[in-house]
This record gives sequence, C-alpha cells and structure tokens, in this order.
Amino acid sequence: MKKSIFDILAGAESYISGQALAQRLGVSRQAVWKGIKALRDDGFVIDSVTNKGYKLSGMPTDLNELSLRYYLKTKTLGKNLIVLDSVGSTNDYLKHLGSEGCENGTVVVTHEQTKGKGRLGRSWTSERDDNLTFSILLRPRMAPKDMVDITPLTGLAICQALRDYTGLDLKIKWPNDIILGKKKLVGILTEMSAEFDAVEYIVTGIGINVDQTTFPDEISHKATSLLIATGRHYDKNRLLAGLLGRIEEAFVRSNLALSAETISEYKKLCASIGKSVTFKSGTRSISGVAVDIDEDGALKVMLSDGSLRTVNAGEVT
Ligand code: BTN
Repeated sequence: MKKSIFDILAGAESYISGQALAQRLGVSRQAVWKGIKALRDDGFVIDSVTNKGYKLSGMPTDLNELSLRYYLKTKTLGKNLIVLDSVGSTNDYLKHLGSEGCENGTVVVTHEQTKGKGRLGRSWTSERDDNLTFSILLRPRMAPKDMVDITPLTGLAICQALRDYTGLDLKIKWPNDIILGKKKLVGILTEMSAEFDAVEYIVTGIGINVDQTTFPDEISHKATSLLIATGRHYDKNRLLAGLLGRIEEAFVRSNLALSAETISEYKKLCASIGKSVTFKSGTRSISGVAVDIDEDGALKVMLSDGSLRTVNAGEVT
C-alpha cells in the first residue's frame, strides 16, 4: 500500500484527494489513511488540506527503499537492490549471495552494520544511519590479477562525484581512502572470489561518513563526515542513487580497466604524491616518499637511498 500511494503522490502535479486515491487503488479510505500515516512515519512529508487532499512535499533523508528506488536511474548497478535493516557486513552478505549466483550489479545497502570490515583486518564502525554503507557485486570477465583496477576506478568516481555534489576539496589517499585535509570521509574494501584463471565475482564495499557529529576518541583526529564538513544533512537516498550512477558510468567508460586518462585524473586528485608512506616488505616496515602512480595504479616510492620501489595496495600501512 505504501508503495502504491507513494507512486501516485510522486507522479501527481498537485493535491490528490483521499477518495481519488482510494478509488484508483481499489481500497477503503481507511486503508489510504493508514498508508499515508506509514509513509509519514518513514519520513515522507505529506501535506494534507481539507477539500483538496494530499500532496508529497518532502522525502526522507535517511535510507529508505522507496525513495532510493525513485532516484535510482542506473541500468545495471542496483537493478537487483537489497535494502537491509541491519547486517554484520554488507560485503560478507553480498559475498554469500555471490556464491549463490546473484546477478552482476547487485547492490546491498543497510541502515546498520554490526561487524563492518575495513582494510587490513580493521573494523569499520558507525552508529545506525550515520554512515552510508553499501556493497556492489560485479561479475566481470577478467583474470584475477586485473581486479586491482576496480578499487581505484571506484574511488576516483566517488571522489569526483562527491566533489561535485558538496564543493569540498576532497582528495584520494592512495590506494582508496577519500579524505578532506588529513581526515577520512570514505573507505573502500574490495574482495574477490576467483578460480585459478578467472574472477567469479568481485564485491566492492563502500562506507561514507554522512551524519556523524562526533567519532570515537581513537579516530576522532583522523575522521570527518559530510555533516561536520558542510553543516548539511545530505539525503542518503539521493546521494547513493547519484553515486551508483557515477560509478556505473565510470565502469562502462573504462571497461573496468585503468587507462592513461583515468590514471591522469586519479593523479590530479591523489594527495599521497610527495608525502611519506610506510609499507611492509616481508616482516620489515619501510618508509619513503611517494613520487608517482604507475600504469597499473601501483604507488612508486622513493627510498632514502634514492632507489624506487613499486608498492601495491595490500602492502601499505
Ligand atoms: C577501509 O577504509 O579500511 C575500508 C572500509 C570499507 C567499509 C565498507 S562499509 C560497507 C562495506 N561493508 C564492510 O564490511 N566494509 C565495507
């Protein structure tokens, strides 16, 4: 009932009476009233005026399936869309669906993660509805070694899109954090299941700090949110629909492979070049200065003896 009422109100130019709604849906006025109440409880703003009826005048800003589907204009990403109330990790959930054969482009998004995962075995935590946490499943025909291009392509698309939407001077901290100054706004975790010579599926999970006003002590010096940075509450449904659109566009344009053009765009936004980095080589930690990104998206690091090392994403601490 909620969806049918929403569809009519979203398509209506002006007020529509309770009676007209009831007639179009073939239900009682009481059922319409209940549906309107349920939509309002979900955060939809519905004006009601005596003798005129109802009019949709505002959408919820927290995650909402009806609203998200309304804004989503992609062809592949999110065609199979799963909106969860709470889950351990959207990556783990989607990997499970992936092993059961879910379709290319499946997207899982949740209000809350109870075991969110970060890179290098870290955790990714957030209060319910503060974070936008979602994962995308791809089934590309590619060799496992080529999956390394997916994360920088995704990170670049998100960074460019968020710069456009917010006007913030966001940068990429290699390999795939999106930062404002020294503080992290977005994290990306890509995982893969592969046979010997072919990818079965790739799951890219994205966490965006949207509505946090504070962070736990251990990360408060290195994390920020859109609310802290702009003072604005972004509509998470509009934001996610827009981001999925931009990610899809980037995937189609690049055919999922880094090109000279995307590397050059990436470098323009990469904050790591010229900065010192520490990476693991076996059991040793080595420091140097990042000087370039190569054609595979790996970081070129100059060591204190002047030699150059090529560093891959998994090695940087
Ligand atoms: C990092 O910066 O270390 C990566 C963080 C990735 C977090 C996202 S939130 C959605 C998806 N599900 C997870 O468990 N992790 C990713």
